[in-house]
Parts: sequence; C-alpha cells; structure tokens
Amino acid sequence: MMSERLDTVASLANARHSCRAFLPDPVPEPVIRELIAIAGRAPSWCNCQPWTLHLLSLQQTNELRPLLREAAATPAPDIPFPAEYTGVYRERRRETARQLYDAVGVEWGNRQESARQSLRNFDLFDAPQLLILSTPKSLLPYSLVDCGIFLGGFLLAAEAVGVATIPQAALATCAPLLHRHLDIAEDLSIVCGVSLGYARPDAPENAFRTDRAELKDFLHRP
Ligand SMILES: Cc1cc2nc3c(=O)[nH]c(=O)nc-3n(C[C@H](O)[C@H](O)[C@H](O)COP(=O)(O)O)c2cc1C
Repeated sequence: MMSERLDTVASLANARHSCRAFLPDPVPEPVIRELIAIAGRAPSWCNCQPWTLHLLSLQQTNELRPLLREAAATPAPDIPFPAEYTGVYRERRRETARQLYDAVGVEWGNRQESARQSLRNFDLFDAPQLLILSTPKSLLPYSLVDCGIFLGGFLLAAEAVGVATIPQAALATCAPLLHRHLDIAEDLSIVCGVSLGYARPDAPENAFRTDRAELKDFLHRP
C-alpha cells in the first residue's frame, strides 16, 4: 500500500520526537517562517484558522528564560489542565516519565531530582528559539482541535528539515507572564509553547523514544 508520498509522511512521523536538549545555534528565521506557512495549510473548522503564533528571536528567548523560571512557581494557565490522569492515560504518562528519568539517570521516586528535570521545561531545554501558540478564547474548546492539527503539521515539517522541536504545555502555566511580556492579547488563550533549534545528538535526554498503543487499542469496528 506504500506510495512514495505515504512513505515520506510515515518516515517523518516515525522519526519525529520531542527534543529535550538543544544546541545553541539558532534556526534561520526564513526557515521557521516557511515551516509556519506549511503548518498554516492545516484544515480548520469553517477555515477559521484560529491559531496565532508569537515567534521569539534568540535574544528574546534568552531574555524570557529567567522570567519563565520565576513564573513557574505560580502556575496560572489560561486553559485548565486535566485535574488527574487515570487508567491507561496515567500508565502511559508514567511510562513516558520513567523513560525520561531512566535516560537522564534520575531514580524513580526521587522527587527532588525529578522536579529539577521538570524545571528544565522553563529553561526551554536550552533551545535558541521559541514559538507561543494561542487561540481566540471565544472559539474554545473546538479551536484546540484546529491548533492541534496546525501543531502536528509544524512538527512534521520541522522534522523534514532537521529542526528539532518540543511542544510544551508547561509553558502555558506562565500565561500571565507571556501575555504581559510578549503583548499577547487577553482575548487569546495560550495553548502551549514550542521550543525549537537543533538537537544535541549526544544528550541522554534525546536518546529514548516513546511507545505508541497498538491500533487495536484505539480503533473500534462496531
Ligand atoms: C500539546 C503538547 C504539550 C506537551 N507539553 C510538554 C511539556 O510541557 N513538557 C515536555 O517535556 N513534553 C511535552 N510534550 C511532549 C510529550 O511529552 C511527547 O510528545 C510525548 O511524550 C510523546 O513523545 P515524542 O514527542 O518524543 O514522540 C507535549 C506534547 C504535546 C503534543
């Protein structure tokens, strides 16, 4: 069933992974703009295209980093986070965390070390550049579906040109800071950040790959 084009999509989907250790080299802005334009071809309900991006330069990203660290202490996302993860979702979440901690040598249950690894989110994993994705409050919650499709396209397009990425809901906890510091309008809800750059190939954080459920676990034939 493989066609050359399907093969290309499959190889990008299989190769993409979240990067949690970046080199300092910035991605040329024209490249990022092209990736955003490709992602902007995403379908959306009524073709509303309810995504807004704020792209930070290397300098702006470096200025934001210490402020994020500070803001992380008082989480205040625009869109509520899940109250809890239960059942299979809890298991998958734990397994992914376990893989990350194993990779970086954090013992399971060591709260201090795991919190330290979590805080790396607010250093943007040393990424040189950052995108903030937001959506009109008035179009929630369905606009999140459209934003998700946009995000998926962006991540695959980035993979195609060797740009490493990680979407970060953690950054949405710093919404008040992001609105204030980046002049993001209050009628937009911050969905997530996407740190980007080039992967540090030798970093243990980048050495593991997450699993996926089998088709039978989520595809039903009623
Ligand atoms: C919307 C969204 C938000 C995410 N937020 C975070 C985050 O805050 N911190 C983090 O380390 N990873 C975050 N991730 C990355 C996921 O943990 C990752 O996609 C998942 O474990 C699968 O791994 P993979 O991306 O390497 O395939 C996020 C992913 C998505 C799609």
